[in-house]
Amino acid sequence: MKDFHELLRTRRSTRRYTDEEISPEDVKCIMEAALMAPSSKRSLSWEFVLVEDTAMLERLSVCKEHGAKLIAGAKLAVVVLGDPTKSDVWIEDASIAATLIQLQAEEAGLGSCWVQIRSRFDENGESAEDNVRELLNIPLPMQVLAIIALGHKGEEKTPFDLEKAAWEKVHIGQW
Ligand SMILES: Cc1cc2nc3c(=O)[nH]c(=O)nc-3n(C[C@H](O)[C@H](O)[C@H](O)COP(=O)(O)O)c2cc1C
Repeated sequence: MKDFHELLRTRRSTRRYTDEEISPEDVKCIMEAALMAPSSKRSLSWEFVLVEDTAMLERLSVCKEHGAKLIAGAKLAVVVLGDPTKSDVWIEDASIAATLIQLQAEEAGLGSCWVQIRSRFDENGESAEDNVRELLNIPLPMQVLAIIALGHKGEEKTPFDLEKAAWEKVHIGQW
């Protein structure tokens, strides 16, 4: 197990994956992390669809014009959904769960990448969310926030350089 700060430093978006399968134990551990995510008023406003089927991963990879192709090479896609009838802050709830999925994956030695779906469109101007909804039979009122693509790392990424941390974003006392 990595030191947590080191884990944060080494987690980089991984967009290339090897052919190695993700073990069921790792999938379980990653989803346990998601299910432990804090949510406003403990609304548990998120839901998740796990996709491992290669043909479906291919179809998801063209759900939007830019930034989704990498899903085709992933071993697992976790589609992160939120229910606005359960929480007015479902985006925050779902975003935290998605982040925990990425961090738990890193701890398991896996690579991951967030693929934004909400407010994104395909090359014909169709909503990426509607495309995913149709492919996976996702009912309303569920909303699709993002897809977290996962797999064993097929590329090396340099850890975050703390010398380049944007400390100018941090305001002390007042703006
Ligand atoms: C809200 C959000 C949306 C993102 N959407 C995409 C995406 O659609 N496709 C993609 O390849 N990466 C996406 N990313 C990954 C970012 O590009 C990446 O986190 C950023 O460039 C910093 O790089 P790093 O994750 O390696 O530190 C997204 C990240 C976040 C937080």
